[in-house]
Amino acid sequence: MEVVIKSDYEEMCRAAAHVVADILNTKPDAVLGLATGSTPLGVYKELVRLHQEEGIDFSQVTTFNLDEYVGLSINDSQSYHHFMHENFFKHVNIPVQNIYIPSGTTRNYQAFCQWYEHRIEECGGIDVQILGIGTDGHIAFNEPTSSLSSRTRLKTLEKQTINDNARFFENRDDVPIYAITMGVGTILEAKQIVLLASGKSKATVVAASVEGPVTSMITASALQMHPSTLFFVDEEAGSELKMREYYDWVQEKKPDSPQA
Ligand code: F6R
Repeated sequence: MEVVIKSDYEEMCRAAAHVVADILNTKPDAVLGLATGSTPLGVYKELVRLHQEEGIDFSQVTTFNLDEYVGLSINDSQSYHHFMHENFFKHVNIPVQNIYIPSGTTRNYQAFCQWYEHRIEECGGIDVQILGIGTDGHIAFNEPTSSLSSRTRLKTLEKQTINDNARFFENRDDVPIYAITMGVGTILEAKQIVLLASGKSKATVVAASVEGPVTSMITASALQMHPSTLFFVDEEAGSELKMREYYDWVQEKKPDSPQA
């Protein structure tokens, strides 16, 4: 795991977007795993800028989103379908048939989840997966005690997650209590993972994920088992990391070539 501490949110998002852009430069038909929530917004903003101003091309890209609320239609303004369309898809040139987001309204969740997993596999797996982290340590909607080998499935949200996400809804009671989410096992199969965390409210859980034991109580800690995870944090989110000096030292002394 490589921990990269950036001075602020904007800088962190720019750096993460450039990881995606570099992958697209070498593999224009890359498969991107995408997240919603507040944190990746700056990444999408920078990717849109790179597309509009620097010509980065998404025409061969395929995307898979991590999750969707159960019960919200694709046109619901709180659905992750809507979020992705507004904040990313409508600004870039990803062919609509290459965009996959879990369905919140399927009649058969089990069959849908199996199909979703199968589709990821058929597309060659995820090249780079963007992740946020919940204040309870979740990645996607893998709440505490989720199996660390879980696959895409329907999941009941924890109260803390419902409270955290209530800010997007008119009333707390409007927040769906179920979501369909990629599993921890699904996420761990991505070739590259880019996790972003911003703000003081994430500091404790960031430190626990990076420096604590691997535990299903904090599903982000499973990323310690992944061979290529970039953990981007801003100053506030990184403020409880014990090995902070070391992470900065690693970045400062980064060898120019992988052979060095
Ligand atoms: C969203 C997702 C969630 C969020 C997490 C953090 O697709 O999978 O795990 O990344 O809840 O949300 P924010 O960024 O709003 O703090």
